[in-house]
Amino acid sequence: MDARSLKIAAAEEALSHVEHGMRLGIGTGSTADEFVRLLAEKVADGFAVQGVPTSERTARLCLELGVPLFSLDDLPELDLTIDGADEIDPQLCLIKGGGGAHLREKIVAAASERMIVIADETKLVDVLGAFPLPIEVMPFGLAATRRAVDKLAERLGLNGTILQRQRQGKDEPYITDGGHFLLDASFGRIPEAEALAEGLAAIPGVVEHGLFLNMADAAIIAAPAGVRTLT
Ligand code: 5RP
Repeated sequence: MDARSLKIAAAEEALSHVEHGMRLGIGTGSTADEFVRLLAEKVADGFAVQGVPTSERTARLCLELGVPLFSLDDLPELDLTIDGADEIDPQLCLIKGGGGAHLREKIVAAASERMIVIADETKLVDVLGAFPLPIEVMPFGLAATRRAVDKLAERLGLNGTILQRQRQGKDEPYITDGGHFLLDASFGRIPEAEALAEGLAAIPGVVEHGLFLNMADAAIIAAPAGVRTLT
């Protein structure tokens, strides 16, 4: 089974949790894209959902495929969000933001009654941190914010490098949908994710980090042997 088939398998299972008429947060990334494609097929057959996209990229795909979209201001409370992840630990704590969308993804997930993560089994880890942690920061005061993140990491005994994300193939900064910059912090292991999350949230120039702690209710994991749901 190739990587795309696994993403489709997870997305198919997630679709079985979506009920007619639901207010649905729609995630970002290649796995979430597969979910959008399957959802669009159902919508074309008359299935009704009210979608709230977590990025401009997802909004474009939904519009192209005919998935009805609303803003979070139209629908401030959602029934369910389906989204991908970069890492998933045994407690269903996540690293997200590989696609640069974790700010909107977190806002949408927090507005949802339930969040279901879809991924292939390569995203499962014992301890978060092998995937570089995305940190969305204000362009203003970038050097001071970087310094504060460095000092926090030092205080928590986290070693690693923190790089500013660049636009793919370009020598210019990556800009998020919110108009911010991204730092990617490669710590290797983050044994105390809660302390790191709290410390990052306390730095004024940090807009949002990619640690999603205690937000996911379930993870649908696709492997060549089959699809399983972790809760
Ligand atoms: C985007 C995300 C994505 O959900 C995450 O990067 C996983 O993407 P993919 O399904 O392409 O592996 O957090 O900000």
